[in-house]
Amino acid sequence: MNTRFVLHEEELPRQWYNVLADLDRPLDPPLDPRTEEPVPPEALRALFPRACVEQEVSMDRFVDIPEPVREVYRWWRPTPLLRAVALERALGTPARIYFKYEGGSPTGSHKANTAVAQAYYNKIEGTARLTTETGAGQWGSALAYACAAFGLRCTVYMVRASYEGKPYRRTLMRLFGAEVFPSPSERTNAGRAVLAADPRSPGSLGIAISEAIEDAVGGNGAKYALGSVLNHVLLHQTVIGLEAVRQMDLAGAWPDVVVGCVGGGSNFAGLALPFFGEARSGRRLLPRLLAVEPAACPSLTRGELRYDFGDTAKTTPLLKMHTLGADFVPPPIHAGGLRYHGMAPLVSRLVADGVVEPVAHDQVDVFESAMLFARAEGILPAPETAHAVHAAVKLARACAESGEAKVILIGFSGHGHFDMAAYEAALEKALPRVT
Ligand SMILES: Cc1ncc(COP(=O)(O)O)c(C=O)c1O
Repeated sequence: MNTRFVLHEEELPRQWYNVLADLDRPLDPPLDPRTEEPVPPEALRALFPRACVEQEVSMDRFVDIPEPVREVYRWWRPTPLLRAVALERALGTPARIYFKYEGGSPTGSHKANTAVAQAYYNKIEGTARLTTETGAGQWGSALAYACAAFGLRCTVYMVRASYEGKPYRRTLMRLFGAEVFPSPSERTNAGRAVLAADPRSPGSLGIAISEAIEDAVGGNGAKYALGSVLNHVLLHQTVIGLEAVRQMDLAGAWPDVVVGCVGGGSNFAGLALPFFGEARSGRRLLPRLLAVEPAACPSLTRGELRYDFGDTAKTTPLLKMHTLGADFVPPPIHAGGLRYHGMAPLVSRLVADGVVEPVAHDQVDVFESAMLFARAEGILPAPETAHAVHAAVKLARACAESGEAKVILIGFSGHGHFDMAAYEAALEKALPRVT
């Protein structure tokens, strides 16, 4: 039985898939908080390069991947699609479990897919430095790597809870040449305001975004890069799903369920949207699309769908999304990359339309499934990824009960080699439930 489905280097996609072209009605536009009028795309040029701003609103169904970006992708892409046969056996399930493994990128997660594209577009426009936020450190290290690849400087505001809990991610970013600051920091008005109210603030992605934006706007030749949420980021991530569609064909199977974890929504969307596109074109059946979030930060399952700020200092345009409120500071769970108060407007729309199904799980259960997966498959999921793994394990167990041989596809967004403190706590049964 084949368990590994690989594409050749030449089969690396030449275009990303833009789901905006396939929506029933346009997305609600970002609004200017002062006037509540739509923000003209040009206004985003202060923060982002032209190509990303154009991609934010493009209605082209496919967007060319620039050759220099494909060249860097080729270091680790196409990524493999693997069948988790040992996990299936361990669960005694008739379900067939596949996972699309993004842990083989230079920094260990899917984040490099958009980091490389964003660094490239900035490079050709003459940007000297990029600023960003990072939760778990995956996005920060991906951007630091991409900046090194294209010769840009990089400044990262790292959520303090992760800065202290994940020192080696910090080291990796610095090795790639980035400067890294704990957020909230004393370097920005946004950081100082949070520290004045709570000197022990663990930080949040919303706060770190405010700091990175403030730094970019005030910095000479600096621009800002976001690791999730926005349309252009999700677009870049569709390289995952475009490959996976072809690999499922190689496997001779089509998923009944596609499952991914959601922080801002980029890896889930990157995998799931091309499957949605295939269904839209009438070629295939639409799988169940399951978006898994932490019970500690349940923006899709408990948040409201409304206009809200993308950051805590309320400097961004208003985005129509599922949100827990821009002031919400989630408890410091181990899946730092899932601690975001909002959600990609695109994912929010598909949830509202009933296309994407959200579910929330507690970290204790999530880590149990992650350890089961690691023991069976020999691959350790990142705590974020572990949420998707847990949902898949639950589905496969249900199949064991019902006898159904469903095909489950997991978005395996990254490995957990920098998350040993979290796994140590899980082994010692010292992880708190945070619901
Ligand atoms: C490995 C991994 N998976 C998932 C996420 C969540 O982000 P997104 O929802 O944008 O994929 C992160 C964010 O840091 C991550 O590091």
